Amino acid sequence: MNNETMSPVEPCVPDDPADGWFGESVAATYDAPGGANAPEPAAAAVDVLEDLAGGGRVLEFAVGTGRIAAPLAARGVPVCGIELSKAMAARIEGKTGGASVDVTIGDMTSTRVPGEFSLVYLVFNTISNVTTQDGQVDVFVNAAAHLRPGGLFLIEVGLPDLRRLPPGQDIVPFAVSPAGEGAG
Ligand SMILES: C[S@@+](CC[C@H](N)C(=O)[O-])C[C@H]1O[C@@H](n2cnc3c(N)ncnc32)[C@H](O)[C@@H]1O
Repeated sequence: MNNETMSPVEPCVPDDPADGWFGESVAATYDAPGGANAPEPAAAAVDVLEDLAGGGRVLEFAVGTGRIAAPLAARGVPVCGIELSKAMAARIEGKTGGASVDVTIGDMTSTRVPGEFSLVYLVFNTISNVTTQDGQVDVFVNAAAHLRPGGLFLIEVGLPDLRRLPPGQDIVPFAVSPAGEGAG
């Protein structure tokens, strides 16, 4: 193969440990079409969130690449986000509506953004990225601290298929490997 027939190669950007589990190598393909990134599931979620916001400001914890926040902002809803990974957050601005999403890099267990919100939301089972119960309680405390009186905290979690839980078992591994990764 000579230089004329070679396709362009993306520069290899190493993952920054500060980005946690969602470094550049994950962010690069996170928005690949299909599954949760298909337009229909996102639009259905945005419909619900726009309705719950009731015309007020909203805050997404772990806003990621703006999969939900950008289309919500495109509808004119004022949207802020907190996100740990700079690599993920870097994708938001390029999306329709993304330029108006106000992102703060930080940890949703403790990072505060100014002002009060009608709605704080945390979707896509992302509470499970906080791996201690104390940390998960901190997420709820932090959400409450951002809400105006009467405001709402919406959280989306995956529920294990109950028929896969025989009596006495309360965990379903989603992956089993010799390296011990992926159990949950
Ligand atoms: C599965 S993605 C979901 C992103 C986005 N909410 C969505 O629905 O597409 C999980 C995101 O949570 C972020 N994250 C994980 N732990 C976090 C924390 N403690 N504080 C803020 N963001 C966090 C990750 O960097 C990643 O972008």
